[in-house]
Amino acid sequence: MIGRYSTPSLQKVGILYRIIAHKKRVVNRHHHSASPPIATCFPQTLQVEKESQHNWNVGSLLLLRTARLPLVGFRGTISLIVLLAVLHRVPDKQCEKGGDNLALTVAHAPGKVILFGEHAVVYGRPAVAVPVQDVQAMAMVEDAPLGSGITVVADDLNHTFNLLDVPRDDPLRVIVSATLARLGVGMQVDLKITVSSTIPIARGLGSGAAISTAIARALGKHQGQWLTSRAISDLAFETEKIYHGTPSGIDNTVIAFEKPVFFVKDKIRDVFWVRRPFQLVIGDTGIASPTKVAVKDVRDAWQQDRERYEEIFDEIGTLAHMGREAIEVGDVEAIGRLMDANHKLLRLIKVSSPELEGLIQAARQGGALGAKLAGAGRGGNMIAVVTSETVGPVSMMLRLAGAKNVIVTEIR
Ligand code: MEV
Repeated sequence: MIGRYSTPSLQKVGILYRIIAHKKRVVNRHHHSASPPIATCFPQTLQVEKESQHNWNVGSLLLLRTARLPLVGFRGTISLIVLLAVLHRVPDKQCEKGGDNLALTVAHAPGKVILFGEHAVVYGRPAVAVPVQDVQAMAMVEDAPLGSGITVVADDLNHTFNLLDVPRDDPLRVIVSATLARLGVGMQVDLKITVSSTIPIARGLGSGAAISTAIARALGKHQGQWLTSRAISDLAFETEKIYHGTPSGIDNTVIAFEKPVFFVKDKIRDVFWVRRPFQLVIGDTGIASPTKVAVKDVRDAWQQDRERYEEIFDEIGTLAHMGREAIEVGDVEAIGRLMDANHKLLRLIKVSSPELEGLIQAARQGGALGAKLAGAGRGGNMIAVVTSETVGPVSMMLRLAGAKNVIVTEIR
């Protein structure tokens, strides 16, 4: 493309032109996007009026020429670098608080399901989990008026509060303060954080970890800092301790990495590839079941009969290994069989429920290759592996059996 410009100086003007055109495209994208209606300002994007941006760019080129800065040779390259550096500064400046435009940053995080190994994973056995992009948590961070502190708006709960007014161990306070500390920013900032989610709460789909992940991502972006998936996962883990009591860490890991993971507590977090994408139907019993309660009940039972529970956990761990292998070789029938086997063991540790059993049976009657509860159990969601022929009948059977919601998702 650059070859279209014949001389070195024209080549440089061409490069500049294309950079400016790209920046304008970014601006346009945000100006024309349907949502949110307010200006959007990501660290790499601009929050300026198209017109003034254009004028500024043209102006900077004129300035370069007026200042008789060279456009050819080594010195030309230096002036190009200088101009690029100046151009690069524009978005940061425009995003700074205190101007007419207050900065706003949005981030998302998906839900998750555990395919194999829930509960046993708390006891050091492996588990396999995948993200579910069909449900999402969203966090929006905005600069707020000076002195207003940190306000959280929980959209779904119709609840607005100042972060310092809630207990220190409130999960939202924990994720915000931990993230700001990680970013090297104290709590003395003025921000409005709006959270909302399509992930049902306490149904085994990772709503808590997804909200925390979305907040950590949005705060990081808002401060113009890059947080790795690992850092975000570790931050979200701090809130998982509040939600779950003794969490394994699998939920925050799969949600922050947004990839299928093979996970062993404190040891392994392998992201792995799905050889042949397969379909899952997720059926919701409509019953909220806090993970903390189910995890505690399993712990109490384990303390009373360690030998038996350890054996069951070992068997579940073996299924998780086999499940990963089946996914990696693309053996969808085997995935279904292994899920059935995993569910039998989950029943033995008493985390199923009549409602889950009803949906799992319905899915099998509809032709699912296999089905199991997913997550803490006792309520929440179940999952079934289906083919393109059985996805319809299984979804229908689940609804007829009383599922409050049915999601079809592809695991890839
Ligand atoms: C919850 O999604 C999964 C459990 O195994 C708890 C945990 O791993 O922390 C039940």
